[in-house]
Amino acid sequence: MSAEDDNTLHPVPARLLNTAECPEPFVKSYEQYKEMHRQSLENPNEFFGKMATEILSWSKPFTTVQHGGLLHGDTAWFLDGQLNASYNCVDRHAIANPDKIAIIYEADEPNQSENITYGELLRQVCQVAGVLRAHGIRKGDTVAIYMPMIPEAVVAILACARIGALHSVVFAGFSAEALRDRVQDAACRLILTSDQGKRGGKTVETKRIVDDALKSCPSVESVIVCQRTGADVPMTPGRDYWWNEEVIKRMTYLSPEPMNSEDPLFLLYTSGSTGTPKGVLHTTAGYLLGAAATVKYVFDYHPGDIFACMADVGWITGHSYIVYGPLTLGATTVLFESIPTYPTPARYWELIAKHKITQFYTAPTAIRALRRLGDQWVEGHDLSSLRVLGTVGEPINPEAWHWYNDKVGKGRCAIVDTYWQTETGSHIVTPLPGAIATKPGSATVPFFGIELAILDPVTGKELIGNDVTGVLAVKRSWPSLARTVYGNHQRYMETYLKPYPGYYFTGDGASRDNDGYIWIRGRVDDVINVSGHRLSTAEIESALIMHHSVAETAVIGAADDVTGQCIHAFVCLKPGVSHHSTDLSKELVVQVRKVIGPFAAPKKIYLVEDLPKTRSGKLMRRILRKIVADESDSLGDISTLADPSVVEALIAKVANA
Ligand code: PRX
Repeated sequence: MSAEDDNTLHPVPARLLNTAECPEPFVKSYEQYKEMHRQSLENPNEFFGKMATEILSWSKPFTTVQHGGLLHGDTAWFLDGQLNASYNCVDRHAIANPDKIAIIYEADEPNQSENITYGELLRQVCQVAGVLRAHGIRKGDTVAIYMPMIPEAVVAILACARIGALHSVVFAGFSAEALRDRVQDAACRLILTSDQGKRGGKTVETKRIVDDALKSCPSVESVIVCQRTGADVPMTPGRDYWWNEEVIKRMTYLSPEPMNSEDPLFLLYTSGSTGTPKGVLHTTAGYLLGAAATVKYVFDYHPGDIFACMADVGWITGHSYIVYGPLTLGATTVLFESIPTYPTPARYWELIAKHKITQFYTAPTAIRALRRLGDQWVEGHDLSSLRVLGTVGEPINPEAWHWYNDKVGKGRCAIVDTYWQTETGSHIVTPLPGAIATKPGSATVPFFGIELAILDPVTGKELIGNDVTGVLAVKRSWPSLARTVYGNHQRYMETYLKPYPGYYFTGDGASRDNDGYIWIRGRVDDVINVSGHRLSTAEIESALIMHHSVAETAVIGAADDVTGQCIHAFVCLKPGVSHHSTDLSKELVVQVRKVIGPFAAPKKIYLVEDLPKTRSGKLMRRILRKIVADESDSLGDISTLADPSVVEALIAKVANA
């Protein structure tokens, strides 16, 4: 426990346990949680076997609940079973209740929302699946999706799942170069995109970015272009096809491909500490179960609820909590195309009141930004439908937590601070609304099936008991754990399973306090978390180094009041290039925007003569982090530096910046 932690226990709001006001929570007390968690670890076969039968529909039942594990990286769940994710997300609900609303599409402009029923969703998914087949896509092929937050993006995802093609959704804020790298790595055969996108009143040139990326992606044979704005965009004959013209040729029913439990469902690229982004691969049954079970238990989802996750479908949060989790349960899910401040900072609250949202899920960075803009924006909106407020992506500071709890939740909602990762597929440390008293800033307790361990980072020994701090790991596999890195199982082993054999290594530091509650302390590797977006120092450094003036560079994450962390870049220029050019700093920012995307832009660039390196040439980012944090008086031992005098110059540079 750190001195700054807010150790106050906030009990479950009484309203949630009053069945006259709210549906009865699935887990109603800490004791019940404890008992279920114990069962999930002591008898995982029975616990997860039952859950998988209850939550998922199988075309062929599984015979073995689990096999393999973390030591050998051969995790497998629900062996011999067959199912289809799109059937689970769409067909069974369309059959039972075709008029139920599956998707509430809240468009960028507030007056343009649209509802899509399960019946309609099924027809659209089948037609797009037919388009994919007509373009030669078969089970096991990879398809890229580069789309704004429109219903067709969800249709595209489910259409891939229907025919057993792996989707690789690339967030539409990524640049052409970033898209190209991801398309090339997965050898995608087809891309689904749109003419343009709309976000916060601005236009995004989606198709043009795809065109740029495809200049060097020989694997791509077809591009299917959905019309979002109707703009006149260039179409390459023989490669590009209009979505509308393609779908009307296809039948409105196409049978789902039976998939084995362990057949891949999708890849999603994410940043690690080194090298290029990794295509994290999730398989069908375990992933789907993790996403749906956490919607059920962590958001306490009940039929009739309106579930709203504000993430983008381009990130794992969108995959699990806009698409797969809620739809598997037959929920109504909200697809929000805009930003929290458009047209005004009341947008979220208007959205909640308009659609009577019951579960609302966003990131601390949005909460901090809205809190800063003043309470007047949230006041006066009818937020009484809300029961559960979720946060994800980064640690939430107590001020933001209290604001969310008091101003948005009015003290009558559960706050669930959900800790998880692209690789974990679904929440792994989180409160449960009706059962777990919360502490502002703590992700609280492990989800079912998660056996947590806090390890000494150096010895790898497990730190037993309470009041310990170390690195966070998980001691056994769980259904929604990613199974591999696309095309590079060795990298999967080396990144996650080999650092501490027998454990899954999260890359995050964590403490367990005197009540056994978990506090996430942030990444212990070179991953930077900007507004909940994961970026690696290596990725940004390699973008900068591509600039013709740059000789060397070091990138670090610095604290930021709104975005959690922001990027500071130290850049050494090639001989003869002027160090005083502000234009050059701007050019370097543009360079990063171009290579990765706007969200990766450095907030500060320092043009410096030299970087702190050891005699063996290892870059000491730790020293740069301390200098930027104004902790130059505690730099530690700098005698191992090849040239300790660079430190003085760097301190002066940062102080004068
Ligand atoms: O550092 C942790 C942070 O986000 C990382 C995972 O990023 P990504 O794979 O992009 O997934 C983000 C959405 C799941 C983690 O390693 N993180 C995520 N949730 C929390 C968090 N840090 C603190 N508290 C959280 N609730």
